[in-house]
Amino acid sequence: MNVVLFGPPGAGKGTQAKELIKKYNIPHISTGDILRANVRDGTELGKEAKGYMDRGELVPDSVLIGLIRNRLNEDDCEDGYLLDGYPRTIPQADALDGILREIGKPLDVVINIDVSDDKLVERLSGRRTCPNCGESYHVVFNSPEKQGICNVCGSQLYQRDDDREEVIRQRLTVYNQKTKPLIDYYDKAGILVNIDGSNNVDKVFQAVSGVMDKYK
Ligand code: AP5
Repeated sequence: MNVVLFGPPGAGKGTQAKELIKKYNIPHISTGDILRANVRDGTELGKEAKGYMDRGELVPDSVLIGLIRNRLNEDDCEDGYLLDGYPRTIPQADALDGILREIGKPLDVVINIDVSDDKLVERLSGRRTCPNCGESYHVVFNSPEKQGICNVCGSQLYQRDDDREEVIRQRLTVYNQKTKPLIDYYDKAGILVNIDGSNNVDKVFQAVSGVMDKYK
């Protein structure tokens, strides 16, 4: 099953992906997670990406296209993949199309998780993340058992640099300018399905699963 989980920053892509990959047994390919791991490890890629990420801007297409080409060629993508955070521009989508044709794994469906801007700001500004295992929480909607501590690994949670309100606004502006046009792109390709992402996590999961079940 070859799927793109699409949506604005804070729509709940990462939250849903974590459960979906357990249910469908396909790898979660999050370009945001890959870039953050490179920043953490101080790699050349991480050094190049950090400034863009901290400002809420997109990392250049040339960097992302190379990264995704390598990742999709790994063995664990043999039976499918769940892309999260890629593509984010028309050139990235065009490049993806070419890569997927080369490797013979065309997209089955693009699932767009639709959430209003007010809710996105509320979700992102309250998000807390584990620096160690990447688990994500929310101070109101999904709080950890012990305040500020990761349930999974016990590390101290932190607020992502790009989850400060002024950066969130910039990310939403960039999304509207550069990424939102992909909704039309995939609608025209006949593979877009819209999901109401304003519901609670379980309801959104049921809706997304309902779509993915068709491609099992
Ligand atoms: P990335 O990490 O991809 O960030 P994003 O798309 O902005 O998405 P988020 O991770 O912020 O949100 P999400 O939809 O996963 O929401 P989550 O599930 O965490 O990218 C970061 C940066 O990397 C970019 O700005 C860019 O610089 C760079 N980058 C990455 N990919 C790139 C690309 N392809 N090209 C160029 N640059 C790229 O949920 C958010 C919060 O809401 C959490 O607290 C969660 O607990 C809560 N929540 C989730 N669902 C619900 C619900 N249903 N109800 C209530 N609360 C909920």
